[in-house]
Amino acid sequence: MKVPDIIIAIDGFSSTGKSSFAKRVAAKFGFLYLDSGALYRGVTLFAQEERLISKLNTVSPTLEEELRTLDIHFGTDGRTYMGPRCIENQIRSLEVSAQVSPIAAVPYVRAYVDRKLREFGQKGRIVMDGRDIGTTVFPHAQLKIFMTASEEVRARRRYDELVANGSMPALEDVVKNLRERDYIDSHRETAPLRKAPDAFELDNSHMDMQEELAWIQGLIQGKFGLLDAS
Ligand code: DC
Repeated sequence: MKVPDIIIAIDGFSSTGKSSFAKRVAAKFGFLYLDSGALYRGVTLFAQEERLISKLNTVSPTLEEELRTLDIHFGTDGRTYMGPRCIENQIRSLEVSAQVSPIAAVPYVRAYVDRKLREFGQKGRIVMDGRDIGTTVFPHAQLKIFMTASEEVRARRRYDELVANGSMPALEDVVKNLRERDYIDSHRETAPLRKAPDAFELDNSHMDMQEELAWIQGLIQGKFGLLDAS
């Protein structure tokens, strides 16, 4: 199936499997995958290392100035870098997860990330996942998906991901972090997490990857009038 040069925007709550799904969709259709949350995580790691965020989540105004020269980007290997340093594993830690939502609520941080994300939009053929891709970053994306899953399923996925990265978290801390992030992400003033009116909802609580891929393939065929030649 030859998919046109579109932007596929995938939004939803934390740990709904957005990035696994987005990566597979990109591989299936020959698109570039971009994880917008990784940039927010990178800024959070930077703020922590430079002591620009307190334990109580107060962000120092110095961060705005520092962002002018901060180089967080995706390498050709698809991993996240801060300058020459690969930060892919560090940005997935529970410490970064615990402070990324307050950082992502700061308007100038969102402006910094949006600018980087929109550069990729020029060419199309991208799958980007996040919280505000279909509503704010690419409101004209030709295909928008909003992902959901039950809290139980999401907490288990997040827990497994942390364990796979070498952490030993308590399940209740993982649940607490998910709830806090959901709340902050959907209640912040700038670009809160919302389902765009023209987004298609995918609840994958009881779906496996093959079913999810079949679902999007059907959606694309229907929307763009394509024949299945795969
Ligand atoms: O998808 P993730 O869990 O890696 O995202 C990390 C945080 O970044 C999440 O708590 C909210 C924020 N985020 C955002 O506000 N907007 C996006 N487009 C992507 C992520």
